[in-house]
Amino acid sequence: MFSERIQRLSGSLIREILAAAQRPEVISFAGGLPASQCLPELDLGSVPQSLAQYGTTEGEPELREAIAREANKMGIACSADQVLVLSGSQQALDLAAKLFVDPGTPVLTEGPTYLAALQVLKLFGAEIHAVPQHADGSLDAGEFGAAIDRVRPAFSYLIPSFQNPSGACYDEANRKRLAEVLDTAGVPVFEDDPYRALSYDGEAPAPLVSHLKKASFIYAGSFSKTLVPGLREGYLIASPDLYPYLVKLKQAADLHTNRIGQWYVARALNDPGYAAHIDKLRATYRAGRDVMQDALARHFSDLADWQLPRGGLFFWLTLKTPQDTRKLLARALEHNVAFMPGEPFYPKPEDGIGHLRLNFSHTAPERIEEGIARLAALVRG
Ligand SMILES: Cc1ncc(COP(=O)(O)O)c(C=O)c1O
Repeated sequence: MFSERIQRLSGSLIREILAAAQRPEVISFAGGLPASQCLPELDLGSVPQSLAQYGTTEGEPELREAIAREANKMGIACSADQVLVLSGSQQALDLAAKLFVDPGTPVLTEGPTYLAALQVLKLFGAEIHAVPQHADGSLDAGEFGAAIDRVRPAFSYLIPSFQNPSGACYDEANRKRLAEVLDTAGVPVFEDDPYRALSYDGEAPAPLVSHLKKASFIYAGSFSKTLVPGLREGYLIASPDLYPYLVKLKQAADLHTNRIGQWYVARALNDPGYAAHIDKLRATYRAGRDVMQDALARHFSDLADWQLPRGGLFFWLTLKTPQDTRKLLARALEHNVAFMPGEPFYPKPEDGIGHLRLNFSHTAPERIEEGIARLAALVRG
C-alpha cells in the first residue's frame, strides 16, 4: 500500500519523550528547546500586505542578502545567489538526502550524531557509517580519511560547532585538516551549524566549509536557536554545482518558505538591537550551563565523565559503568525526571551504550540541582 521506504520510517524518540515530559512535575533535560523567556516577542503588527502573495523558491531577497553578509563575516566566500531559505534547517537534511541518497548509498557521519539526521538518512535508505568522536572533542582527520577511503560516501554530514549531542567544537586546525581530507577525496560535505551563535567562552572557529578549496558543500544554518523556532526559518548555502538541484527539490517539496517568517527574521537581523539580543541569550544559557556543571560536579563525579560544553545546549555524559540508558529513562520518568538516552544518536545504537544527553536551556536553574540529584540516585541504582 505504501512506498518501500515506509518500512524504514522511524518515529522520533525525542518527540515521544517530550510528550511524556510535558507533565509539570517532570524536570526535563530531554529536549533542546530555547528558554521561553529568551524568545523575542512575536510582534507581527506591520506585516506588509504584499507578503500575502506567493513568493520565490529561493527566498526573500532582503533575507538572502542578510544571510550572505553574515556568512561572509564568518569566512564563507559566497553570494546571496547561493542562499536558499528553508522551512527550518531540518529541511536541508531532507533535500540533501533526496539529492544524494538511494537505498544502500553510503553516508559518513560522526558518532554520535544528530538523531533527526539519522532518521532522514535511514528513511531514504542510506547505509550510515560513523567516525567516532574523541573524548577531547575532536574528530581525527586520519581516521576520517581512512573511513572515506573505505566507505566512499556520497557525502559526509558533520556538526563541527557545539555538536548535538556531544557539545564538541572542533578547533581551527582540526577543521583545516578535515577540509583537506574532503578536498583530496572530492567528497561533498554537509556542515550543520545551528548552534554557532550560542557560544559561551569566545566565538566558534570559522565554519569548516570556509577552508574548502574545491569540494562541494552544503552549509545549513538556523534561526530556531536565536529567534523563534515556531516560525520554522532556516537556510542553506551551497556550492554552485549543488545549488540548482536543491532549489528544484525545495520547489517540489513546498514551493517556498513562509514569507511572514522570512520578513520577521530579516527585520530582526537588521535591527540594531540584534547583537544585544544574542548577548542576552548567551548570558542566560551560560548561567544555566554553569549551574548544571556545578550540580554534575556534586552528584556525578564518580558516575560519569564529561567536558564542559563551550556552546550549544547540551552536556554529554559518558557513564563510568555503562548501562543501557533507554532503560534508565523508563525509571527516570517514573521519578519525574527526563533526559535523552545516548544510544539513538549512533547509527548502530549498540555502539553507544552508556551516554546521557542533558539539556540546560529549558529548565529553571533552581530545578536543575534537584533534577541532577534525582538522576544520579537512579544511575547509582
Ligand atoms: C544539529 C541540528 N540540526 C538541525 C536542527 C533543526 O533545526 P531547525 O529548527 O532549524 O529545523 C537541529 C535542531 O535541534 C539540530 O540540533
